Amino acid sequence: MNYINLGRSELNKEKDKMLKEYEELKGLNLKLNMARGKPSKEQVNLSRELLDIVNSRSDCSAQDEIDCLNYGILDGLPELKEIFAPVLGVNKEQIFVGGNSSLSMMFDVISFFMTSGVCGSEPWIKQEQIKFLCPCPGYDRHFAILKHFNIKAIPIIMTSTGPDIDTIENLVENDASIKGIWCVPKYSNPQGITYSDETVRRFSKLKPAAKDFRIFWDNAYAIHDLTEVPEKLLNIMTECEKNNSKDLPIIFCSTSKITFPGAGVAFLGASENNIKEIKKMYSFKTIGFDKINQLRHARYFKNYEGLISHMNKHRAILKPKFDIVVNTLKNEFADNKIISFTEPKGGYFVSVDVMNGCAKRVVDLCKKVGLILTEAGATFPNGIDKNDSNIRIAPSYPSIEELKTAMSVFCVCVKLAALEKVLEI
Ligand SMILES: Cc1ncc(COP(=O)(O)O)c(C=O)c1O
Repeated sequence: MNYINLGRSELNKEKDKMLKEYEELKGLNLKLNMARGKPSKEQVNLSRELLDIVNSRSDCSAQDEIDCLNYGILDGLPELKEIFAPVLGVNKEQIFVGGNSSLSMMFDVISFFMTSGVCGSEPWIKQEQIKFLCPCPGYDRHFAILKHFNIKAIPIIMTSTGPDIDTIENLVENDASIKGIWCVPKYSNPQGITYSDETVRRFSKLKPAAKDFRIFWDNAYAIHDLTEVPEKLLNIMTECEKNNSKDLPIIFCSTSKITFPGAGVAFLGASENNIKEIKKMYSFKTIGFDKINQLRHARYFKNYEGLISHMNKHRAILKPKFDIVVNTLKNEFADNKIISFTEPKGGYFVSVDVMNGCAKRVVDLCKKVGLILTEAGATFPNGIDKNDSNIRIAPSYPSIEELKTAMSVFCVCVKLAALEKVLEI
């Protein structure tokens, strides 16, 4: 049924039908959550063996006779660097292994740059209002970091090949107050877009007006593929090396959605210059990160191939869940073009655009019947989606049965909000 072709009385009839379905849902006392991209219990259980690898009887020495039970080695175990170098697309000299969270490393790096500057430049905090470019929709926690440091966020439109690179070139090359850009280059959060080769190349060829400009390349979903043949992201470091710009990118990833969220290991990849600077800053903050956890991870994966075969197990659990979300949306809205949505080949989210002016209402309607979604607007800086249309769906955590129920609730709420909107006009 296409609402656009209906008269008022038919629309009212349809609204009454949806209201009845909605009231029935209320009676079910549901408790469902599709708000955050959390791996399910089944997924985290895949890595339980990792917990047995290091125990009271274990030899805890790593490569080069590093004693993981004691202080030392600020930049991480060499064997773990070897496994994750291909994930970041850098060499072993260009890796820093951190603690349990890549987001906290992003926060740290920005905080270092605020107080101490970027490789000898004036600290950001001493400069006039600085700015960051923010491809939108994007990751709410990136935007929250900017807000915390009072860095002005400039929204940049996302296209199917990555963020609008013409606008980025124009702004970065002409405005020295722009110091950075957030990028989730593979299976972006929330749309699942992988930047095209041309986009990556043009990033590597940027000639920023500010010499302390950096690209924050958050490759959180680098190996989180949902298809057997993964989408390929061009290696930004290699491209930057070709263009003499290897100080531009600072690359991040972690095992949060590989082993245990909040109890995994995070990584930073950057030029030798940047690594030296960041390592110096970290030396003020800590004597070293948790090498016991690093050792567990290195012994568990053994090598890059081990890591990828582990990711295949995640894929087997996740793929059917993404299929439920996408297929439900396709079926429910086949002839009623009141939404558009992405069909990601990896990552953790499906991005849905409902009718303009309806996203907040949909999230609210869902909440009232027990389905929690990411707040509408969260995918934009300062929580402001000027179209009020984007909603991020995270299918990973609920069980298959819960997900089916959650999606039927979602579809009823999308239809109800749309009917309210068209009848209001
Ligand atoms: C794009 C992106 N970056 C970073 C993170 C958080 O990673 P970590 O757990 O390593 O801090 C997430 C989590 O959802 C994410 O989506």
